[in-house]
Amino acid sequence: MAQTMSIVMLLSLIAFAPLAFSQKTGSLSPKFYDRSCPKAVEIVKSVVANAVAKETRMAASLLRLHFHDCFVKGCDASILLDSTGTLISEKRSNPNRNSARGFEVIEQIKSALEKECPQTVSCADIMALAARDSTVLTGGPSWEVPLGRRDARDASLSGSNNNIPAPNNTFQTILTKFKLKGLNVVDLVALSGSHTIGNSRCTSFRQRLYNQSGNGQPDYALDQSYAAQLKPRCPRSGGDQNLFVLDFVTPLKFDNNYFKNLLASKGLLNSDQVLVTKSEASLELVKKYANDNKAFFEQFAKSMIRMGNITPLTGSKGEIRKICRKMNK
Ligand code: HEM
Ligand SMILES: *[C@@H]1O[C@H](CO)[C@@H](O)[C@H](O)[C@H]1NC(C)=O
Ligand SMILES: *[C@@H]1O[C@H](CO)[C@@H](O)[C@H](O)[C@H]1NC(C)=O
Repeated sequence: MAQTMSIVMLLSLIAFAPLAFSQKTGSLSPKFYDRSCPKAVEIVKSVVANAVAKETRMAASLLRLHFHDCFVKGCDASILLDSTGTLISEKRSNPNRNSARGFEVIEQIKSALEKECPQTVSCADIMALAARDSTVLTGGPSWEVPLGRRDARDASLSGSNNNIPAPNNTFQTILTKFKLKGLNVVDLVALSGSHTIGNSRCTSFRQRLYNQSGNGQPDYALDQSYAAQLKPRCPRSGGDQNLFVLDFVTPLKFDNNYFKNLLASKGLLNSDQVLVTKSEASLELVKKYANDNKAFFEQFAKSMIRMGNITPLTGSKGEIRKICRKMNK
């Protein structure tokens, strides 16, 4: 009897081993909608293409949205939910308030998909696809997006405030926040390359221009002639929301100029510049990507897949929302 039991147990262990393995390495698959909504990937791409044709910056905004979603409870579309009587929206957090954008484009994609195949494609997957499409449309690398995420029925304002790195966090704090999500220094440097496109508000880097360490001195790791160009539209006070390009050389093109800027002390955010001033490992990676666009593109694609795999809701967890800004009834 005991012997039969152990044989059964052994057999079931073998039978379930591949399942356990696939769950551990991520249960998402690029083919997830191949049968249930074969046009899903194409529909997302066409709406994103229209939005980016209207406004190039939208590519950057959609790429960032996926990041700000994934770092809070995983890639579960929690960032898209509006506040209700019982839920406080992540849209109010420090990193998102007056800053996160692209919500209408996600909603437009969702409504196109609801017409094609109702309640099939998650809002979390829409953001992952839109991030890839945005990268490609601005000249960056492509990758197959693993799919099958489901949408959260809750959000976390504190998670959004605490888990998403701030531009004035130290290098160590930023790296720790990445490590808490299972990402490493290679992912940190490659994904920071997203700042090759898009904008920042004055308020996100003002400290560097006037009072970096609380002693009334600027950040001398910032090229002072570049700083002088930034100051007129980013004064000591006022102009908080004024916009500046993150990569002043090729602001609309996804390329490795961001890394070249860092080596010239012309990274806009403190969190950009610390990649060359605070860690030897990180500096070496910046040099590598500045010299080798292909290496940057290859790693960026890999790291985006890794970021997109952060604790997705799968199986019977969560739901497929009908409208991305609201939970289903
Ligand atoms: C490493 C830590 C990071 C920090 C501290 C950081 C911080 C910031 C800040 C402060 C802005 C400007 C926001 C504003 O002023 O409104 C910004 C913009 C942006 N970030 Fe990051 N970021 C980081 C990593 C990432 C990652 C991993 C991605 C994507 C994978 C990303 C994508 C972007 C994009 C595309 C923009 C421009 C958005 C737009 O123009 O709408 N960032 N980031
Ligand atoms: C970082 O910026 C925030 C918001 O402007 C500010 O409250 C905080 O004091 C800054 N932290 C450091 C270490 O400078
Ligand atoms: C710089 O910041 C420190 C601490 O945040 C503050 O006490 C000081 O007054 C500021 N100095 C200037 C010149 O703004």
